[in-house]
Amino acid sequence: MNSSIASALSKSQAWKLNLEAFDVHQSIRLVFGPGSLSRVGELARDLSGRRVLLVSDPGVAKAGYVAEAHRSLKQEGLDVFDFTDVHENPTDEDVNRGVGAVKNFAPDVIVALGGGSAMDCAKGINFVLTNGGNMEDFWGFGKADQPLLPSIGIPTTAGTGSDGQSYALISRTSDHKKMACGDFKVRFKTVILDPDLPRTGPADVIAASGLDAIAHALESYVSTRANPLSRMYASHAWRLLNGGVDRILVDKQDIDAWGEMLLGAHFAGCAIEASMLGAAHACANPLTARYNVSHGVAVSLTLPAVLRANEGSVADRYQKLARDVGLSGESAGSLLSRRVAEIKQRFGLPAKLGELVQVNDWSELIDDALSQWTGTFNPRPLDRELVTQLYEEIA
Ligand SMILES: [Fe+2]
Repeated sequence: MNSSIASALSKSQAWKLNLEAFDVHQSIRLVFGPGSLSRVGELARDLSGRRVLLVSDPGVAKAGYVAEAHRSLKQEGLDVFDFTDVHENPTDEDVNRGVGAVKNFAPDVIVALGGGSAMDCAKGINFVLTNGGNMEDFWGFGKADQPLLPSIGIPTTAGTGSDGQSYALISRTSDHKKMACGDFKVRFKTVILDPDLPRTGPADVIAASGLDAIAHALESYVSTRANPLSRMYASHAWRLLNGGVDRILVDKQDIDAWGEMLLGAHFAGCAIEASMLGAAHACANPLTARYNVSHGVAVSLTLPAVLRANEGSVADRYQKLARDVGLSGESAGSLLSRRVAEIKQRFGLPAKLGELVQVNDWSELIDDALSQWTGTFNPRPLDRELVTQLYEEIA
């Protein structure tokens, strides 16, 4: 073998050892800056929109943001239909109600304005409006045969990361099961990140969504599907969120800090899109489904214990995340766990599940956690023993 080929081959083998192959679709036009909500009309026109469905919730409408978006759309000469009847943790019934309300209007662009619930409901409406059937038909990935409408996502909270993802999380009314309905076609074509918007959110929503975003960054960075691109998003998200939370805890009106939070939450959403999550979400989801603990609060309960439990599997990666925010010491998993616990405590979030609910049957929670798809991406295999240990730690 000639020496230059041997050298190239050995380099290629070294590359294979150090970096994972990946296949990630990136297609979002990202518009960031204070006041950028006022550009929604122009951006909808760029998508060739004439008739715009604006999906939001009553709280966002009360804050005046729906009226602001409506005005911007009308100023561009577009017809607008406001649907603001979205509830927290949207169900297939919410989606069907939206589809029924807007069917005759026949929109050609959808704008989702709000937290994860509004964005997920807008995606759900997009599926059913264009492809017919029920939400259940789109459970999984790539189930939509027909084209979907182009859409714009405008998060008003820094948390969910739905703005970076091609999934809608919709609860099935019959059994409260969360259906993850994914398709590249349902992902927003344009995302507006306006740091003016989250400042007016209620304190409990800010706390829960902030911890959710942090969990997205920390879980996706070490998931079994992590890759160079997802780690780039996740590590940058972690740095932004870690700095941003300190600043908004001091001054809720700090617009630069909200910029960091919104970007961090979006980048963490992009990291999930590229690499999925892990045990903190797998153990949190049953707490939401069975005991109605809000998603961000549930994840904030499970995350510190998961960071400690995963330490032995991903020590190097945790060390990198700890160093990124100036933490140093023996066990990076414990350092990160303590940092998350400190943030939680400053936000006034509960340290233990027992502060919120009385669990009657742990075995059903354990069974539910083990059946969560997201748990399969945890770097330490999530078995019954580990789930039991994690629940014991947060009880
Ligand atoms: Fe989450």
